[in-house]
Amino acid sequence: MYKIAVIGGDGIGPEVVREGLKVLKKAAEIYGFEFETTEYPFGTEHYIETGELVPESVYSEYREHDAIYLGAIGDPRAEVGLVERAVIAGIRFRLDLYVNLRPIKLYSESLCPIKDKKIEDVDLMVVRENTEDVYTGLGGIMKKDTPDEVAIANMIFTRKGCEQAVRYAFELARERKKDNKVTLVDKANAIRAQDIWTRTVEEVGREYPDITHDHAYIDAACMWMVKNPEWFDVVVTTNIFGDIFTDLGAMVQGGMGIAASGNIHPGQVSMFEPIHGSAPKYKDKNVACPIAAIMAAQMMLDFLGEKKAAVAIENAVTSLLNSGKIKSLDARSGIPTSDMGDMVAAELGKIKK
Ligand code: IPM
Ligand code: MN
Repeated sequence: MYKIAVIGGDGIGPEVVREGLKVLKKAAEIYGFEFETTEYPFGTEHYIETGELVPESVYSEYREHDAIYLGAIGDPRAEVGLVERAVIAGIRFRLDLYVNLRPIKLYSESLCPIKDKKIEDVDLMVVRENTEDVYTGLGGIMKKDTPDEVAIANMIFTRKGCEQAVRYAFELARERKKDNKVTLVDKANAIRAQDIWTRTVEEVGREYPDITHDHAYIDAACMWMVKNPEWFDVVVTTNIFGDIFTDLGAMVQGGMGIAASGNIHPGQVSMFEPIHGSAPKYKDKNVACPIAAIMAAQMMLDFLGEKKAAVAIENAVTSLLNSGKIKSLDARSGIPTSDMGDMVAAELGKIKK
């Protein structure tokens, strides 16, 4: 019995999570596993109503679960980033989810905005370091609102943080058996502190003689992502570069309506979420595309060891996206959120076990 903590969150979060759970339920019936959910109310509504962001006690509760499934956080009624930092970064940092794994995979040629790209051309995994860099919050603002104002955000990299992300990337490249390659995406030419990444990849790479490694500067990597996405297999990168690079990647694979992520600490409770935001203007309109949330649930099953069910969900989504029934993966698809969940669940039912 898997214990899953569910945080619907803000905007379209609860709607898309509902569809993810629908597909999970169907997968559980077919593939013979069980799960129970604990719902948590955290998000902007909860904050406005109660003044509470996230109570300290919840982290020990999270640790009693096998995984956390999150919709989206973000609402203009709260101070910029306040609730995101508390709920999302809180989970990432406090549970030490040191890898943010983001698959960039094209499921249907029709979804790719780049001409002449085939599905095999867009198939990479981004390993985004998830607990350091400018996200630690170290720094601050002094002499605010004066002509002498100073604002500092520190880009922090520890050997431990780099190494665990890099090692994860090499292991993943080995497991994938695609090009047996890890690409470090950095900006070590301008940010000399990122030399720690260069050296870590070099050193860890020696332990993986079967895996080659190269590197690309983030600006060039963005260009390659659009020009030649087929050059990537596993990408390992810093927290902020990974954040930006994967939104670009999401567009290459068909948009924010499909891109999912796992915030992972192998062997410990980990968190799965679509990479899109809360899209407040679409809240409760039943128009948001739930495929990204469904794919986040798919990643969660893979993490939990339900490999067959995970592959089946991916296949169900692939076949649906190639069926021509879904015209787009945004709010203009013409297919209600709840119908799209039904369609994936039905497709899953058709797949041979
Ligand atoms: C993401 C999001 C978050 C991030 C925000 C909501 C803090 O953009 O998961 O990619 O920057 O990591
Ligand atoms: Mn982002």
